[in-house]
Amino acid sequence: MNIAPQSLLEMMRHRRSSRTGFLEGKPVPDEQISLLLEAARSAPSGGNGQPWEFIVIRDHDMRNKIADLYKHQLQDKIEIERVIRGAASVSGVGWRNAPVQIVVLGDPRVSMCYPLRTAEDKADSHFFTGLANATLQLMLMAESMGLSTQYVSDSASPYFSLMLKHLLGIPHELKVYHIVPVGYADVAAVPKSRRALESMVHFERYDAGKLRSVEYWQQFMEEDSIQSKSYNRGGDKIPEPGA
Ligand SMILES: Cc1cc2nc3c(=O)[nH]c(=O)nc-3n(C[C@H](O)[C@H](O)[C@H](O)COP(=O)(O)O)c2cc1C
Repeated sequence: MNIAPQSLLEMMRHRRSSRTGFLEGKPVPDEQISLLLEAARSAPSGGNGQPWEFIVIRDHDMRNKIADLYKHQLQDKIEIERVIRGAASVSGVGWRNAPVQIVVLGDPRVSMCYPLRTAEDKADSHFFTGLANATLQLMLMAESMGLSTQYVSDSASPYFSLMLKHLLGIPHELKVYHIVPVGYADVAAVPKSRRALESMVHFERYDAGKLRSVEYWQQFMEEDSIQSKSYNRGGDKIPEPGA
């Protein structure tokens, strides 16, 4: 299949996590939702185990209940950050108005279909890689249709996932992975920078001069990471190698 590589790259670069909010009055038609799900189900997975399942939430009240659960579970996250780091920097619930939420679930029993050694040492990584691939494919399909998305990974935390399972009747065998709100963003998301290509690519063998230093990570934590705002001077330290 031939798709113009530059167009594909452009689309990938254009995709952003939308955190400000979504236009509630602009719904996502069912045909578009089907395309999102088709994109997700065509993702690669370890041993073609396809660990994923999806719950499409369009009902207004249910979407609000899920957003409320998210808001509630933020409390202990914020408290942990405040107590230990002195400040909290966590995402809000800008996605409350997204007209669709897609809950991505995984069935860890997929590991039974792997060779025994693979199941022993790679069950978790294969499980999460498959779910991540499906999620990203869904997001890229959304981008191709001018829709915006966001990752809500707190949905996998114990309180949120258990409450969500109860609310949505999700069997206990399954794990909640992410919630992906989908819709039209109220404002275009601000592009996030990416590291320069030459800093991460090595030809023929690893160029040790490119190994990121402790100072690099310290600076990243202070200035660029999601912890930057709540960075606790003297509290958070990147350990020296071997420490
Ligand atoms: C595994 C994973 C989990 C993430 N969890 C969250 C999340 O819970 N909340 C959030 O706002 N963004 C989350 N993100 C989005 C990242 O913060 C975002 O992709 C990154 O900052 C780059 O920004 P961009 O998506 O706009 O390019 C997650 C992304 C990934 C891949």
